[in-house]
Amino acid sequence: MADSTQTKPDEEVEYSEDKIAVHWREEEYVEPPEKFKDQANAKDESVLERFAPENFPDCFVDYAELLDWDKKWDEVLDSSNPPFFKWFVGGRLNASVNCVDRHLESRGDKNAIIWVAEPEDDEPVEITYKELHRRVNEFAALLKDFCGVKPQDRVTFHLPMVPDLPVAMLACARLGVIHSQVFGGFSGAAAGQRMGDAQSTILVTMDAYYRNGELIDHKIKADDAVEAAKKEGIEIEKILVFRRIPGEYHSESEMVEGRDYFIDEVLKDYEGQEVEPESMKAEDTLFLMYTSGTTGRPKGAQHTIGGYLSYVTGTSKYYQDIHPDDMYWCFADIGWITGHSYIVYGPLALGTTSVMYEGVPTYPDAGRPWRIAEKLGVDIFHTAPTTIRMLRKVGPDEPEKYDFHFKTMTTVGEPIEPDVWRWYHKVVGKGEAAITDTWWMTETGGFTGSTLPFLQPMKPGSCGPAALGIQLVIYDENGEEVPKGSGKAGYICIRNPWPGRMLTVWGQDERFIDTYYKRFNKDKDSKDWKDWPFMCGDGAVQAEDGYFRILGRIDDVINVAGHRLGTKELESAAIEVEEVAEAAAVPVIDEERGKIVEMYIALKPGVKASEEEVAKKVAKQIEYDIGKIARPKNVWIVPDMPKTRSGKIMRRVIAGISNFADVGDISTLANPDVVDKIREQVQAAKKERGEDLQELSKEQEQEIAEFGSQSE
Ligand code: WTA
Repeated sequence: MADSTQTKPDEEVEYSEDKIAVHWREEEYVEPPEKFKDQANAKDESVLERFAPENFPDCFVDYAELLDWDKKWDEVLDSSNPPFFKWFVGGRLNASVNCVDRHLESRGDKNAIIWVAEPEDDEPVEITYKELHRRVNEFAALLKDFCGVKPQDRVTFHLPMVPDLPVAMLACARLGVIHSQVFGGFSGAAAGQRMGDAQSTILVTMDAYYRNGELIDHKIKADDAVEAAKKEGIEIEKILVFRRIPGEYHSESEMVEGRDYFIDEVLKDYEGQEVEPESMKAEDTLFLMYTSGTTGRPKGAQHTIGGYLSYVTGTSKYYQDIHPDDMYWCFADIGWITGHSYIVYGPLALGTTSVMYEGVPTYPDAGRPWRIAEKLGVDIFHTAPTTIRMLRKVGPDEPEKYDFHFKTMTTVGEPIEPDVWRWYHKVVGKGEAAITDTWWMTETGGFTGSTLPFLQPMKPGSCGPAALGIQLVIYDENGEEVPKGSGKAGYICIRNPWPGRMLTVWGQDERFIDTYYKRFNKDKDSKDWKDWPFMCGDGAVQAEDGYFRILGRIDDVINVAGHRLGTKELESAAIEVEEVAEAAAVPVIDEERGKIVEMYIALKPGVKASEEEVAKKVAKQIEYDIGKIARPKNVWIVPDMPKTRSGKIMRRVIAGISNFADVGDISTLANPDVVDKIREQVQAAKKERGEDLQELSKEQEQEIAEFGSQSE
């Protein structure tokens, strides 16, 4: 493989006002391994033919037929009221039956979930499908009787990575109740606001959980949730509390009588009870998943039962190549859409064993994930570039020490730098696994761009072609199609409806249209789905071979003297420097050029070169890969980056610091303490250099405050 630092950059770079120039070099194909091909769920080209555009929308019946329906649908797609498309209309089903009950007979004694606690001396907890069935039923009985919930009511969870979370999700699904899980790392206020938005009065939480070797207080956040919900006009009626360690309570927060209950105590009344599953309409709602933004009401992506479940089951089957006998581990948090789709619903609908891990990847050391993989015999591994980068940073040689073998590995959440991809492939995958770079978003429910693991060659840094049945298109500013192979980037959109798409933004239909459809819909009265392309919000470029490279959210673009630079390509250049573990690019307001680039860098441990040397190398590499125009004004070497639950760098926070502006809401940061550290370091240095005099206009302030926020 060519060393990317020595390859000449593309000379034919397109600079223009309205098109995002693409500087990131095209990589070579990497062929998928042959050895797993015979067992693959997608082993020959026929699957591609079945999902060809001329077979739309019936192609998605392939996915729906993976499920058990109480009543079959009358119509595959009802597109009479765009863009509120409905799938499998007339059909009835229950999600918990599909993920639990239907497996009882054939594999009731097989593990549904294996939960690995963070403390390494604790043995993994095995939960068979039978056991899962018992727990789901008992919790459903509790919700129904003790809480009095009815189908399509909302129940909010603020839970860490414990098996009680999927149990609670499936219990809601059994009752046709809508669950809304708020990432455990988020603040109590964030949970409370979301309860206000969802009009939900029941909160399910836990006293504490392990993170980085410490048992941290979690119930304490419920106190803030109560306050925040009150501001939204919601009185929380019941707080149900799981206990991390049976019989103990590890929180400073008081249990309020008549409102707060230990679940284990209440559950005693429901021991052994079974609850008849509700037969729900396909287009009823399964759950809400809130995506964050800096301003306005939270945005609750509303996912359906029939369409969503079909879509995640089908994509789990073909893209992750899940079979019932696999040992599947998605190393992500269930508080993120990835966990809903690809820890809980997709894998369990397929009857496989889904591994869950409570803690941080590097606890107690960077060998932990690989010891888990070895011990449990994990053969499918799913994670995010941020985790891969972290593991590469602190333990580049760790995977080799353990005896595990993956057949497929996926990556999700942001573009993966080719350099990091190669480490993942060679060292983690030991050169024998197929990688799928799965591009999608909360709103799409499941994968929308990826290679099929044993059918299509991989290309580092590109997600691959559109997923089965998905018709991707790139539009320029004017809504003209950008042809493939043109080297020009634009707004990536999905032309057609697909079953995994959210039905709407909870309670905000107009916002749903405005955010995803307004821009490229030419006739708002049109009843033809072809007039309603879904705007994903990412910039992308399509190579001649049809593969897409995602450049990041369209607001992650830094416009330097009229040249639009994608943050991801700046960061990718920086990461080519040997000493660099992670990089983030932000704009700094500049009188002369409008904006200039500043880079934030986290180093790999044990780096010998001085910070100054590394900073110089980074600047040089960026200049080489992209051009002088992109040369950063400053390169800051920092201890860590502020990150979201899914490990995305919160660029607006560091942009705020670089511009001496407000950093905005940091309640949804996974590591809020890093903010002050970076601020002190960077602003002191800037003052010394006389770079603190910049007065920002209102518009500039807003731009900085929102920089990159769409990707949070
Ligand atoms: C980004 C995550 C490049 C993208 C499932 C998208 C990716 C946003 C990839 C959605 C990928 C996700 N390559 N970029 N493989 N996967 N993204 O809602 O910008 O947390 O719009 O869902 O992540 O993030 P979300």
